[in-house]
Amino acid sequence: MGAIYAIANQKGGVGKTTTAVNLAACIAEAGYDSLLVDIDPQCNATVGVGLGKHIEPNVYELLSGEATIDQVAVASAIDHLWVAPASPDLAGANVELPRIPGSENRLKEALRTVRERFAFTLLDCPPSLGPLTVNALVAADRVLVPVQAEYFALEGLAGLLDTLSLVQRELNPRLTIAGMVVTMYDSRTRLAQDVQNEIRSHFPQLVFDTVIPRNVRISEAPSYGKPVIHHDPHSAGAAAYFELAKEVATRG
Ligand SMILES: Nc1ncnc2c1ncn2[C@@H]1O[C@H](COP(=O)(O)OP(=O)(O)O)[C@@H](O)[C@H]1O
Ligand SMILES: [Mg+2]
Repeated sequence: MGAIYAIANQKGGVGKTTTAVNLAACIAEAGYDSLLVDIDPQCNATVGVGLGKHIEPNVYELLSGEATIDQVAVASAIDHLWVAPASPDLAGANVELPRIPGSENRLKEALRTVRERFAFTLLDCPPSLGPLTVNALVAADRVLVPVQAEYFALEGLAGLLDTLSLVQRELNPRLTIAGMVVTMYDSRTRLAQDVQNEIRSHFPQLVFDTVIPRNVRISEAPSYGKPVIHHDPHSAGAAAYFELAKEVATRG
């Protein structure tokens, strides 16, 4: 039985998409069937695995009930990795979903069967706590929170944890926090070390041991439509995401 992970943090640019794409690719590389679901209208995860922004049907049709996950999920160029692509139309779902009673369950219902087919399903969330992210948190078993190693990293985490508690209480009692992962860590700076220490002291049980370094191979990989493990398998970034994938799989 597979598990569904939401990759969430309402801050933009903290490494959600990078983590979703690279974790999905590492899990697929290990031979497990994985599904990457892009629920961000920016489509960065979709483009990051080499797909276009206007594939039909996409996650918009999945949420509106016009298509099933079997129709929306497409095979990527990577073995074992399937993708439910986003499109810019998804921005409309932010407006339309709140008008429909019970709409926070749309994604959960649409993904009902994925645990049978995929060992891991990763949901790449947009940078907000709006209806799309709430749908992801309702559909997920676990949430993984990337935290950028920079000043203000902790700002907003309290709001995110409040939202998680609310979702757990009202909508999805099964939801647990898989962990927080420190991203874009620059070991040369004192600031990054201080921020990492602060995050670990605030959330002692929650932070993954693996730290994702700031690495140029990670940032250039999406322009080739590839995860870093295929763009440069020998880079520090590739090694870090492999480690993280192992830790996620071990923690369960
Ligand atoms: N470890 C890293 N090293 C270098 N650049 C990174 C790293 N992680 C993410 N980036 C870059 O930072 C930017 C924001 O990352 P992204 O994953 O898109 O964040 P989010 O999805 O949270 O908005 C992107 O340009 C991405 O390529
Ligand atoms: Mg993103």
